[in-house]
Amino acid sequence: MNLKGRDFLTLLDYSPEEIEYLIDLAARLKAEKRKGISHDIHKGKNIALIFEKTSTRTRCSFEVAAHDLGMNTTYLDPKSSQIGRKESIADTARVLCRMFDAIEYRGYGQEIVEALAKYSDVPVWNGLTNEYHPTQLLADMLTIKEHFGRIKGIRFVYMGDARYNMGNSIMIACAKMGMHFTACTNKKYFPDQKLVDKCMKYADESGGTITLTEDVFEGTKNADVIYTDVWVSMGEPEKVWEERIHDLLPYRVTMDVMKNAGSKAIFMHCLPAFHDLNTEVGRDIKKKFGLDEMEVTDEVFESTRSVVFNEAENRMHTIKAVMYATL
Ligand code: CP
Ligand code: NVA
Repeated sequence: MNLKGRDFLTLLDYSPEEIEYLIDLAARLKAEKRKGISHDIHKGKNIALIFEKTSTRTRCSFEVAAHDLGMNTTYLDPKSSQIGRKESIADTARVLCRMFDAIEYRGYGQEIVEALAKYSDVPVWNGLTNEYHPTQLLADMLTIKEHFGRIKGIRFVYMGDARYNMGNSIMIACAKMGMHFTACTNKKYFPDQKLVDKCMKYADESGGTITLTEDVFEGTKNADVIYTDVWVSMGEPEKVWEERIHDLLPYRVTMDVMKNAGSKAIFMHCLPAFHDLNTEVGRDIKKKFGLDEMEVTDEVFESTRSVVFNEAENRMHTIKAVMYATL
C-alpha cells in the first residue's frame, strides 16, 4: 500500500482497503508506542496546522503524533495569521508548501481544504470542515475494531444532526466498510439525498446498508454502536439552539436507548459532549431552556458502555497513521 503524497480530505477519496490499511497501521503504531518503540521516521520534517475553529483533541493529536514521528509543528489560527482576511487560500497554500512538508486545515467549507490541496504540492489533511471529519472516523473505526474485533457487519446508529460533518463521515465510513448505518433522527436532519445515493452504491459493494428512520425504538434496536454529537456545531449561530433542542430532544441518548440497543451495545461520541452542567455552554442552556444534559445523559456518558475516551486517545494514533503513510 503506497499512500505517499496523498491528501486526506474526505473518506470518499479512499478505498476500503486503504482505510483498513490506515486503521491497522494506527493499531501497530499504538502498540509500538505502548512498548516504547520509537517510530520517528519523518525526522526533520515540518508541518503547518491551520485551525480556524477551536480544538482540543485534533490539535493535540497532530502535535503529539508529529512529535512522535520526529517532526516540528507550527500552529496558525486566524487571529495570528493573514489567512482569509488579508491573504487568499490559494496564496496561503503556495506560501506554506514552500516551507512545510504538509498542511493540516480545520475550518469551514470543504472547498477551503480542497483549495489548499489544489494550490499546494504537499499533502493536505482535513482536521474537520462543515461537511466532513475524516480523521475522527479513523479513530472511531479503530475503537470499534478494538472492542468488537471487527468492523464489517457492525450495526451503527447515529442520533442527532446527521446532515453535518459527523453524520456524513459516519455514513461514508459505514458504507465503504460494510457496516449497517442507521441515521435515527428527525427527518429534517437526515443526510443530503445525493450523499445517501452515493453511499448506497458503496454499501451495495461492501455488503453494508443505509437506513434513515425517525423511529427511536426501531432505529436503535439491536445496535452495536449508538453514536451522537453536539446538536449545534462550531460556526453555527447561537439562535439555532432552540429549534435543535425542540427537534432533537427525542433523539437524546438515554439508558432506555442503550437498553433497547442490547446488552453489548457501546456508546460513542466524538467529543466535546454536553452531558452535565460543568461547561459554560451547558450552564447557559440550563438557564435558557432548563436542560441539565443535552445529546446524551450523564448516566450513559459515565457508564461502562461509554468508550468515548478510548476514541479520544485513538485520534492521536490514527492521525499519526495518516501522517506516517502520506508523507
Ligand atoms: N473530536 C474532535 O474533533 O475534538 P476537538 O474539537 O477537540 O478537536
Ligand atoms: N459536529 C461537531 C464536531 C466536533 C468534533 C462540530 O463541527 O462542532
